[in-house]
Amino acid sequence: MKKIILAIDGYSACGKSSTAKAVAAELNYTYIDTGAMYRAVTLYFHEHHVSLTNDKEVEKALNNIDITFHNNAEKETETFLNGLNVEDEIRKMYISEKVSHVSSLAAVREAMVAQQRKLGKKSGIVMDGRDIGTVVFPEAELKVFMFADVYVRAGRRQKELMEKGQLVDLSDIIQNLEKRDKIDSTREVSPLRQAKDAIELDSSFLTLEEQVDHIVRLALGKILEEKKETISA
Ligand code: DC
Repeated sequence: MKKIILAIDGYSACGKSSTAKAVAAELNYTYIDTGAMYRAVTLYFHEHHVSLTNDKEVEKALNNIDITFHNNAEKETETFLNGLNVEDEIRKMYISEKVSHVSSLAAVREAMVAQQRKLGKKSGIVMDGRDIGTVVFPEAELKVFMFADVYVRAGRRQKELMEKGQLVDLSDIIQNLEKRDKIDSTREVSPLRQAKDAIELDSSFLTLEEQVDHIVRLALGKILEEKKETISA
């Protein structure tokens, strides 16, 4: 069966990653979390005191960064930065507070987009982020654009953080989400935009299962369409 590229974009914390991960598992596709890549870069910049206004420092740092994904014993994908497992560290609030600034740099985006295209070379991938359907894979067969009410998003994020032992005030999370959405959608280089051919999905009142089900159905429809086209060509 023909494998497709599935691009899931949208605002911060509206369930893109959990949905994309589960969709990939159902379709037996590879899942790539591009937000994790920008978070890993942010962690490196933080640890090495890289100045965002110093192009040479940024360039040098990017040349020293190697991001990979590996599955753990529970078959969950974890992010590695230069061989070290940084999955938990990159989800912390201090990274969330810096990541939109780091990911708005043209040099950072260029480096990450090049890696994402390499990772997605073989089809059969589900990639989530902000610019997957518009910049990374404008040719993706299926594009979904997710959004949700900010209070719902903040509540879900708070619960996730709590499960990891981090207690964060709801108002701080709302502030962080709104700030990131603003920076992500107004930056000069590849801002967060809904691709013209993307299908909208409001996840405010949907369970994870419903979101996954909806996207898997769309994907299966697309795969069938592609198959028919191949046969009639
Ligand atoms: O999906 P996330 O919240 O983990 O992403 C963290 C940040 O990374 C997000 O605020 C913006 C940036 N990002 C991006 O600019 N482009 C992507 N494709 C994915 C994430």
